[in-house]
Amino acid sequence: MSQNRDQWGSKIGFILAAVGSAVGLGNIWRYPYLLYSSGGGAFLVPYFFALFTAGIPLMILEYSFGHKFKGSTPLALARANKKWEWLGWWPSFNSIVILTYYSMILGWAVNYLFLAFTQAWGSDPNGFFFGEFLSLSSGPFELGGIKWPIFFGISLIWFINWFICYRGVSGGIEKVNKVLLPTLIGMMVLIVIRGITLPGAVVGLNKLFTPDWAKVMDPKVWIAAYGQIFFSLSLAMGVMITYSSYLPEKTDIVNSAFMTAFANSGFEFLAAIGVFGILGFMATSQGVPVEEVVTASIGLAFVAFPKVFGLMGPLGVVFGVIFFTCLVFAGITSSVSMVEAFASAVIDKTGASRKKVVNYTIGIGYLVGILFATGAGLYFLDIIDHFINSYGIVSVGLAEAVLIGWVYGAHKIREHANPISIYPVGKWWDVMVKFVTPAVLVYMLISNFVLEMK
Ligand code: PFF
Repeated sequence: MSQNRDQWGSKIGFILAAVGSAVGLGNIWRYPYLLYSSGGGAFLVPYFFALFTAGIPLMILEYSFGHKFKGSTPLALARANKKWEWLGWWPSFNSIVILTYYSMILGWAVNYLFLAFTQAWGSDPNGFFFGEFLSLSSGPFELGGIKWPIFFGISLIWFINWFICYRGVSGGIEKVNKVLLPTLIGMMVLIVIRGITLPGAVVGLNKLFTPDWAKVMDPKVWIAAYGQIFFSLSLAMGVMITYSSYLPEKTDIVNSAFMTAFANSGFEFLAAIGVFGILGFMATSQGVPVEEVVTASIGLAFVAFPKVFGLMGPLGVVFGVIFFTCLVFAGITSSVSMVEAFASAVIDKTGASRKKVVNYTIGIGYLVGILFATGAGLYFLDIIDHFINSYGIVSVGLAEAVLIGWVYGAHKIREHANPISIYPVGKWWDVMVKFVTPAVLVYMLISNFVLEMK
C-alpha cells in the first residue's frame, strides 16, 4: 500500500473535516423544513431509526473500509476486489456533479453576504431575488442572462476550493476546517440564542415540535428520513472512504463514526430550533399563522430570512451577515470534500501530482459550474438534485452494502475496526449492513421509481 499517502495531522483534524463535510446546506435549510413537514416531534422516530440502522452503520463501514485499504473510493474498492473499481467512480462523480450546483448556491450566498450589510433586497426580498438578482424573466439560456455578481460569487467559491485542496489534506482541508467549523458552530449558537429569545419564537417552536403521529405512518416520511441521513452525513459520495484513507494506522474507527454522526445531528437540530424561532417571530410580527411563512431551501435562505432580518431592526444587519456567513462556511467545508473525493480518485488512478489534478478538476468543474451563472441555474438544480438524491445516492449505498456486506464480508470490516476501537461494534452491525440497510434502500429505489411513473 502506498507509503507517501497524505495524512491528517491529528484525530481531531479528521473529525472536524468529516463533520465539516457532513454539516452543510442540508443541515441549515433542508433539515428544519423536513422536521416540520414530516410530523414535527414525531419525525424524530424515523429520523433516529434511520440514523441507527443505516447512517451510523454505513459510516462505520466507510471509515473502516477507507482506513483498511488506504485509497480513494475506486482504489479502495479495487484493492478489495479488482472488479469493483467502477463502483468507486460512481460516487466520486456524484460528488463532483453535486458540487456544480452546490457551488451555485454558495455563490449566491456569497452575494447575499455582501448584500446583507445594506439589506439591499429592500422590502420585497421575493421580487428582488427572482427578479433583480436572478433575472429569471430574461429566459433561462439567454447568453445576455449572465449576471456578473453571480458569476463573481461562483468564481470565488471555486477559487476557494482550489486554494484549499491544492494545499493538500493536512495543509489545506484540515487547517481550514479547524478554523471554519468551530466558528460556524459558534455563529449558529448565536443565531439560536437570538432566535429563541425573539418575541413569538415559541409559536414557531410549538409548530416545529408538536408531534403529528399520523404522518409517521406514511412510508414517504420514512424514505425522507433515510434520504436526509444519507445526504446529510455525506454517505455514498466517496467522501468518507477518501477521508478515512488519510487516517494513521491507530485510529478509533467506531468512536469517530459515532462522533461524526452525533455532531451532524446535533448541528441540524440546533439549526431547526434557530430557524423556527425566527420564523415564529416573523409570523407573529406579521400577524399570520406560522404555516404561511414556512419555506425550505432557496425560499428560506434568500426570501424568508432576508425579510426577517428587515424586521429585526439594526441587529438585523448583524444577524443577516452572521446567517450568510454560516451558509458560506458550512458550504465550503462540504464542497472541499466533494472536490477531494473526486481529485483523490484521479490522483490514485493516474499517479499525477495533487497540484495538477486539482488544477484540472477545478478548471473543468468551474467551466461547468459557470453555466449556472446564467438563469439556467435553477432549472439544472432541480433536475440534478432530484436524480442524484432519488437514485444516485440510494443505488451507491445499496451497492456498497451488498458488495461489501455480503460479497466481501461484513465481519472482515468489523474485525478491522474492532481491535483499534475502544468500544467494538457487535454483531448487530452485520445485521444492519447486510439486511436492514439494503432492504430499506431497495424499497426507496422502487418507490422513487413508482412515484416517477405516476
Ligand atoms: N452533507 C452535505 C450537506 O448536508 O449539505 C452535503 C454533501 C457533502 C453532499 C458532501 C455530498 C458530498 F459529497
